Amino acid sequence: MKIGVYPGTFDPVTQGHTDIIGRSLRVFDRVIVAVALNPSKRPLFDLAERVEMVKLVTKNLAHVEVEAFDGLLVEYLRQHTAHAVIRGLRAIADFEYELQMALINRKLDNNFETVFLMPSEEYSYLTSSIIKEVGGLGGSLKDFVHPEVADRLRQRLRRPSA
Ligand code: COA
Repeated sequence: MKIGVYPGTFDPVTQGHTDIIGRSLRVFDRVIVAVALNPSKRPLFDLAERVEMVKLVTKNLAHVEVEAFDGLLVEYLRQHTAHAVIRGLRAIADFEYELQMALINRKLDNNFETVFLMPSEEYSYLTSSIIKEVGGLGGSLKDFVHPEVADRLRQRLRRPSA
């Protein structure tokens, strides 16, 4: 039983994240999406809301669990007897940061690997910040996030329709 942990802030979860979760099920028997508290990013949605939205978009996927997480990632992997960290690699710009994270995690605990998956090209330019910006300016969110996530974003950003 190979267990992968997909960590992130998910503020909010996008179609790009969902694409990575789907792909990771081809590699792992069980995938745990670990929604990080990450106060340094000053998320728009609180942790419970972010967990709820990831649960919503993955509700039809068997073998996916969603949990809140705070603390050291390698400690979380140890606690969950996981084998690897899953990260999406969208563009060359992601590489340096991802390499740094993977190497720090390896230094902290050499028992885990980081597995990078490429999202579908249509999502390769997405970030949660850009979606919040588009939503805040009243742009259409339909190609980027689940409809219910779009509704919640609009409510939070107080835009009547987009
Ligand atoms: N589709 C769309 N967007 C994607 C994406 C995809 N496939 N993959 C990443 N992104 C976006 C995210 O939405 C996010 O956008 P934002 O910056 O606008 O919010 C950005 O790319 C990268 O963020 P994310 O994937 O959420 O990761 P993160 O950098 O916020 O999270 C943690 C990093 C939480 C995984 C990391 O800080 C961590 O492991 N923390 C635990 C503490 C620890 O162990 N630290 C030491 C090791 S680093």
